[in-house]
Amino acid sequence: MSFGLSRGRQLDVAPGVVMVSDEELGPLPDDVMNNPEAGRLDPRAWFPLRAKENGCDRPFEIEIGSGKGTFLMQHAPTTPGTDYLGIEWAGEFCIYAADRIRRAQLPNVRMLRTDATEFLRWRVPGGIVDVIHLYFSDPWPKTKHHKKRVVQDRFLADAWRVLKSGGELRVVTDHDALWAWDREHFDRWCGGGPCPNHDGQAPAFAEKPFAKPISAGEGELVGTNFERKFRKEGRNFHSTVLQKLAP
Ligand SMILES: C[S@@+](CC[C@H](N)C(=O)[O-])C[C@H]1O[C@@H](n2cnc3c(N)ncnc32)[C@H](O)[C@@H]1O
Repeated sequence: MSFGLSRGRQLDVAPGVVMVSDEELGPLPDDVMNNPEAGRLDPRAWFPLRAKENGCDRPFEIEIGSGKGTFLMQHAPTTPGTDYLGIEWAGEFCIYAADRIRRAQLPNVRMLRTDATEFLRWRVPGGIVDVIHLYFSDPWPKTKHHKKRVVQDRFLADAWRVLKSGGELRVVTDHDALWAWDREHFDRWCGGGPCPNHDGQAPAFAEKPFAKPISAGEGELVGTNFERKFRKEGRNFHSTVLQKLAP
């Protein structure tokens, strides 16, 4: 099947192979506001190796804002026993990443085109995710756009809920103002709170230093497209890991 892309380009992809299809996602029930559990599904069931291994407990990781999919392309082959869901809301990037992954034949990666914060909020059951990767998230510098930043109290409450006990939220950014915003949130969620919408006790997370993944190149933190671009510009980077503390 052929997807029409902006600027007249066409890209051949097989929807429902790497890209999660609308049928797999299914509709969000109308009463989800009253009954948040009604919209939950198990995204781990979308992965062929898990199905083949009779639902064995393969680790499951989510990348938020995969862009062109470089982290998943590099990292997933190094850890074939783990399933990765890349979430990207920009259609053109999501299709681009899915097509790269399809051509590389990576059975442990799938792409979902949606708002990752909404997906965590309404679709993902509690305690199933090992790692959430958030690399070079959009900074939304204008004050009126801060509500569009991924890191919010609501997001941290959902990240905490979907992570397994001991699971990790891994964050890297180049952007000083976004980092100040992240820090203000992380300090509360790793300290005495308050932690709005949080089901457990404070602190919700313990903070630990970011350890570069095995797939990162020499001198890189993660080796995404944005990291490489910003590294050439000589920018500094900020990174951390928030580890879920048991309720
Ligand atoms: C600055 S780019 C970084 C891409 C990639 N992580 C990298 O480091 O090269 C941020 C990406 O996150 C996507 N994004 C931002 N907010 C998102 C959200 N809530 N859900 C899914 N994707 C999101 C954007 O569309 C964009 O492709």
